[in-house]
Formats: sequence, C-alpha cells, structure tokens
Amino acid sequence: MRLSVLGAGYLGAVHATCLAHLGHEVKVFDVDPSKIAMLAAGKPPFYEPGFETFLAETLASGRLHFTDSAQAAIEGARLHFICVGTPQQQDSDAADLRFVNSAFDTIMANINCASTIVGKSTVPVGTAQRLADILISNVPAVRVKIAWNPEFLREGTAIEDTLNPDRLVFGTDSESSEKDLMEVYGKLLSDGIPYVTTDLATAEMVKVAANSFLATKISFINAMAEICEVANADVVTLSRALGYDDRIGKRYLNAGLGFGGGCLPKDIRAFSARAGELGAADAVSFLREIDKINLRRRERVVSLAAAIFSGNFFGKNVAVLGAAFKPDSDDVRDSPALSVAAAMHVKGALVRVHDPQANENARQRFPTLTYCDSIETACADVDLVVLGTEWAEYKILDPLYIGQLVRDRVLIDARNALDWSFWSDSGWDVHALGRGNMHPRTREI
Ligand code: UDX
Repeated sequence: MRLSVLGAGYLGAVHATCLAHLGHEVKVFDVDPSKIAMLAAGKPPFYEPGFETFLAETLASGRLHFTDSAQAAIEGARLHFICVGTPQQQDSDAADLRFVNSAFDTIMANINCASTIVGKSTVPVGTAQRLADILISNVPAVRVKIAWNPEFLREGTAIEDTLNPDRLVFGTDSESSEKDLMEVYGKLLSDGIPYVTTDLATAEMVKVAANSFLATKISFINAMAEICEVANADVVTLSRALGYDDRIGKRYLNAGLGFGGGCLPKDIRAFSARAGELGAADAVSFLREIDKINLRRRERVVSLAAAIFSGNFFGKNVAVLGAAFKPDSDDVRDSPALSVAAAMHVKGALVRVHDPQANENARQRFPTLTYCDSIETACADVDLVVLGTEWAEYKILDPLYIGQLVRDRVLIDARNALDWSFWSDSGWDVHALGRGNMHPRTREI
C-alpha cells in the first residue's frame, strides 16, 4: 500500500522503515532537510541498535523513500502517519501540539485522494476528535478520515517492538480506515499479534494510560527503595520476591535512578494537565507524586555523594558512567544520569562523564561538563565513581582494574546493576539506592 509518514525522528524513521520492510511503498517527509538527507543516505541521525543495517537493507528494496517535498510524500498515499514529537510546553506541563497541528495542515494542503490521517504521536485525549471536527467544518475536496494508532516502541528495542508488538490499537470511527489499517499490519496480524479496535479517544488514552502505569510501577519500587534505606532492608531482593508474583510481574520493577527520556516524564505531566482541563484532575493527582518520587532518586544520589565528601564537593573529581537516559540509546532528554552529573558540577565537583553513545548529545545539553571517550580517562584520579546508566559494558567492568585508576575506591551504583559483593571484595566502598542493609554508611546518610 502507498503510505506517507510525517516526521523522520526516532518514531517516524523506525516506523517508516518497518512499514517498508512489511512490503509497503513508503515516502517520508520531515521539515528538517538535513535529517532527510542523512536517512536517504542510510545514516540514522540517532543511535538505535541494528537500525543502520536495517535501514540500508530496506532502502535497497526501493520501497522506502525520504523526501524534503511534502507534496511528493503525501500525494497518492492511502494512509498518512503523523509521527512528530509532542514535547512538554515551555511554561506548563501540557503537551505542545504545534508539530501535530502543523503536520495535519501539511497533509491537508497536499492531500489529493481519499485517504486516512493516522496519528501515532502521543497526544492529549481529545486531540484526534478536534482534528476530525476541523474536517467537518472545512470539508476537503477528497474524502479524509482520522484514525489513531498509538506507538509503544521503546528506544533500544524499537525495531523488535514495531515488528513484534505486544498489541496493536486501532482507534477510528470509519470502517474503511479500519480495513486499511488491518491491511497495513496484515503480516503482524497473521502472525497472531493481538489487536484492539476502538474509538479515537480510547486509542489516545491507551498510550498515556500505559505510560502512566509503567511510570507508577517504577516509582512504586523506588518509593519502596526509600523505605528500605531507612528500614535496613534490600530493595533488590524485595523486587525479585515481588516479581515472582504473576499478578505483579518483574518488569519495570528495577529500583534505581528512576525514569527519564522523551516520553514517560512528559507524558505523565501532560496527562495530569489534560485531566485538569477536563475537570478530572483528582483522578490522576497521584501522578504528581509519581513524578516527585522519581525526581527524589536523583537528589538522593547527590546527597549520598555529599555525605561521602562530608558536604564539600570542591576539589573532588567524580566520574559519572552513563549520560543516556537508559542503555542502548543516545537520547539524553531528561536523563537521570546527566541530571545527577550536572547537579554535582554545580556544587563544585569536577565531573567527568562517559557514555558509549550519548557524549555528543550530552555535550550539547550540558556543555560545561567534561566528556571522556574512554572509561579509563573518566575514572583517572577520581574520588567517586557513579554508575548512572546501566550499559552492558559497565556491568562487566573489572573493579580491580578500575581500582588502579581512581584516587579513592568509592562507588555509587545508582542503577543497582553491579555485583556489590564483588566490588566490595575488591576494596571498593560501595553505595547503592534502596539497599539499607548493604553498608553501614548508607544507613547513616
Ligand atoms: C517508553 C515506553 O516504554 C514506550 O512504550 C513508549 O512508547 C515510550 O516511552 P522508552 O522511553 O524508550 O519507552 O523507555 P523505557 O524502556 O520504557 O524506560 C523508561 C525509563 O524508565 C528509563 O529511564 C529506564 O531507565 C527507566 N526504568 C525502566 C527504570 O528505572 N526501572 C525499570 O524497571 C524500567
């Protein structure tokens, strides 16, 4: 099927490539011509494991095209996927819908045949209906429908999440749009991927509800970590024991530095703001608490470091391992690791950051921090090592080797990713989050 995709960011680029991989003819438009040029040349403008090869293979099929002409992308397509960002507004918690509105306007200015506009972006509930209402008041020359088909992909596993999703959600009031969506995803449906068809508002809600649930689960275990710290208990063991309960499940139950990135933090804030607009603020007031618990974990790491340094960061060298908001990504939006690094820098420490993929993005966001290309340079002569993002290469670090580089063998494992006794036995003073039983000093702080 001939399809158009608007937005060649993380979501749009991966989604379009997967659609072409499934056999469709896909043309992608983005307002940023440099992004389009890179993707057309087979160079992803972001890091995603396996994507570069997958992109090259799919480009070679001749079915995937990146174009800086909106008209070329939109004309003749039966479905137009809106895959643009919905960041947090500068001066409020609400979502900034300017990119969605502009993608919609671009489609309407170029549409030339009966087709459906399909939203994939995460939007406040009611957005799709507002777009549908515009079509009712300004009837276009050709038949145009609106549908919402939320995306659940995670950075780091984006291709697998798109081609083998837990479920597909089709929100539409139109039978023909639903039929077209079923055809687009026909291969996945025949593979047995479950799907839910629903109205526009419910489809929008599925996405924000899912992200709110995941954020709540993470903050729940991080709240337990706070209690473990004062009750001399161990959140890692607690999480393991809870996770065996099928009703609870072990995923998204890792206590640590909490959630960040371009989705979870801003989506729960936007959801609260939207609930407020709808007069239902109380229903999700707990999300404010989820946000606060999440941000408190970052403060906890800084206060642990302060206690280790007896309150004085001046003259102290700190290595922060990890800048991305999570492993296998170069995304530093609302990154917990980077926020901790910046806070310690502000307090007077000399902070050296290492990340296998995110140094450049981090440098743009926090240019005053020092970025290192190797773990060795980051750790040389430091008084403290903080593990901020649990990249696989950090998990296999040799504590004896790193111990020879540092000035003082002190570690804060802010992701509970390292083997505490192994590091301890190698002469390290190890601190972690939610492990009140681990170290007498952790309890005192
Ligand atoms: C999330 C949703 O999972 C995805 O469905 C949606 O489409 C976009 O937002 P993503 O932001 O890529 O995806 O990351 P995810 O893997 O969900 O992790 C989010 C954050 O939670 C990361 O900062 C991660 O480190 C943190 N996290 C995750 C925890 O702190 N503990 C956990 O147990 C799991």
